[in-house]
Amino acid sequence: MKFNKKDLKTLTKIIASRRDVRGNNFINKEISSKKLKIILKSALNAPSVGYSQPWKFIIIDKNKKDEIFKHFTDSFEKSKKDFIDKPLYNKLKLEGIKESNINIAVYYKKSNSKVLGQTFMKRTGEYSVVCAILNMWLTARALNIGMGWVSILKPKKIDKILDVNRDKYKFIAYLCLGYTKEFYNEPELKKLKWNKKKSLKDSFLK
Ligand SMILES: Cc1cc2nc3c(=O)[nH]c(=O)nc-3n(C[C@H](O)[C@H](O)[C@H](O)COP(=O)(O)O)c2cc1C
Repeated sequence: MKFNKKDLKTLTKIIASRRDVRGNNFINKEISSKKLKIILKSALNAPSVGYSQPWKFIIIDKNKKDEIFKHFTDSFEKSKKDFIDKPLYNKLKLEGIKESNINIAVYYKKSNSKVLGQTFMKRTGEYSVVCAILNMWLTARALNIGMGWVSILKPKKIDKILDVNRDKYKFIAYLCLGYTKEFYNEPELKKLKWNKKKSLKDSFLK
């Protein structure tokens, strides 16, 4: 299959307009199971080291959501010590656990056998899971559904809440999905002047 300029334009537009969506922007509208399936299936097309496809998902139920939100609140408080010199941090809304319609925990399944490509770079399995997450993020955006990644969480605590065996699986991400009031045209943290956008020139090491 060959793509044309219009396809490239669409892809570029989707990539550029993907946003991390937080609780200030989710609306109370259900994602259909059909659309959720499209998003999850896009993860299955991600590249993975040795074609190991080591991703595992957990769709979070209401009770667990509440427990995880409670844990987030506690972790966020604790994280504030890292940003004492940046008072803006305290005011940021850095999750949408309750406001979003669907929460998904994403895990990496550790392999019991040797994986092609993972001999020296042990974390390539985890990188593969992140590739799957980006597919989901972009596909959600193409469906006009927002997604936010929440990482101010203690993996050990999340494993405990979700009753996941840490010897077999590693917590990678906590995702919040839902329809939005709007998609900002630039990252919220850029808008709030937390960080500036890097140029291509600045992105080279050498
Ligand atoms: C690995 C990872 C972890 C992240 N964790 C959080 C988080 O805990 N809370 C949050 O508000 N945003 C989180 N983000 C979203 C980033 O803040 C966001 O991607 C960045 O500010 C750029 O904005 P954009 O995604 O809207 O383009 C995370 C993003 C990544 C890739």
